[in-house]
Amino acid sequence: MKIELTDNKVFFEKQGSKKEIHPFWLRERVNSKEFLDQKTQQRLFDPTMLSNNTEITKLKMSEKFLEVTFKDGAHAKLIIENILKEFEKDNELYFINKISWDSNFKITNKFKFSHNFFEEKKMYESLLDFYKYGFVIFEDVPTQNNFIVNFANSIGSIRPTNFGEYFNVKSKPNPNDLAYTSLPLAPHTDNPYRKPVPCIQILHCIENEVNGGQSTLVDGLAVTEELKKNHPDYYKILTEIKVRFQFIDQNVVLEDWAEMIKLDENNRFKQVRFSPRLDFVPLMEKEKLELYYSARNKISEMYNSEKFRIEFKLKPGDLLMMDNHRLLHGRTEYNANEGNRFLQGCYIDYDSTEGKLKHLKRKFDV
Ligand SMILES: [Fe+2]
Repeated sequence: MKIELTDNKVFFEKQGSKKEIHPFWLRERVNSKEFLDQKTQQRLFDPTMLSNNTEITKLKMSEKFLEVTFKDGAHAKLIIENILKEFEKDNELYFINKISWDSNFKITNKFKFSHNFFEEKKMYESLLDFYKYGFVIFEDVPTQNNFIVNFANSIGSIRPTNFGEYFNVKSKPNPNDLAYTSLPLAPHTDNPYRKPVPCIQILHCIENEVNGGQSTLVDGLAVTEELKKNHPDYYKILTEIKVRFQFIDQNVVLEDWAEMIKLDENNRFKQVRFSPRLDFVPLMEKEKLELYYSARNKISEMYNSEKFRIEFKLKPGDLLMMDNHRLLHGRTEYNANEGNRFLQGCYIDYDSTEGKLKHLKRKFDV
């Protein structure tokens, strides 16, 4: 991949194909201080007010920079590497490879929390692990004063839901969700009925005196990959049919129609939703329903199998941050008479973690 110049034109070459870069694309990127606020990197001009048949009058390229002068006198000194990056990938987190995992996974993605953690390199490393594995565990996170709110807002902004700004996970009388009992919770994703579904769940362990109540995680990406390989017809129908997810309580009715496996515009894995107490399959031909139910049973069997599940106990001060679009989570049963089990949870969105990751990448120049 490289940039070439011919006759006051700029060309971009990738895998043998050479294409001209529109001069206006470069004109929009003029970066001298009369055109670009140096602090915010926001434009001081409105490109929609300019004619797009701009012409290049002078071009100069060195190893690192491309300098362009336009007919209207505007001048740009652009870093070639940054131009190439814009052509490289559609996903700006392309430098992180997702690693799918199963029950053999050893949890190495643990980080000790410390004062000023959010601005340290350790935070950057923990976010890389979060995007690699879909989760990360922070240890020694202070357990007082709803610190979880502080934690979430130090990465980005908390996302309130119908469960509030944050929620307390402990058994309570007359619960409006099974999370607030001591019953086991099979692997599920949270809030599949919300638009949009909260991206990241944070769970902070305050007390855990019971013997059971182990936390469980399953990698939805790993299960999807195996389903696609071994049961392509099941994979296909689960990526095509939208089902209705629903949550109802005294104050609200929340519904959304979505696929159990959602693909992106390039047919790659994007998101899983799974919460078999809350999903309603649409009325379809009997044969199609037959296939759908078989597919749903199969993916449920995989999500619930020991092959894919990891199980671990959160201790006071542990904080689990997990990707609710990729992982399923659950817990084993516990006996509430053995002692207290108290977790606090909340949600944040991807722009929080992505924004923090890119900020720290810039800060540490890595
Ligand atoms: Fe949950």
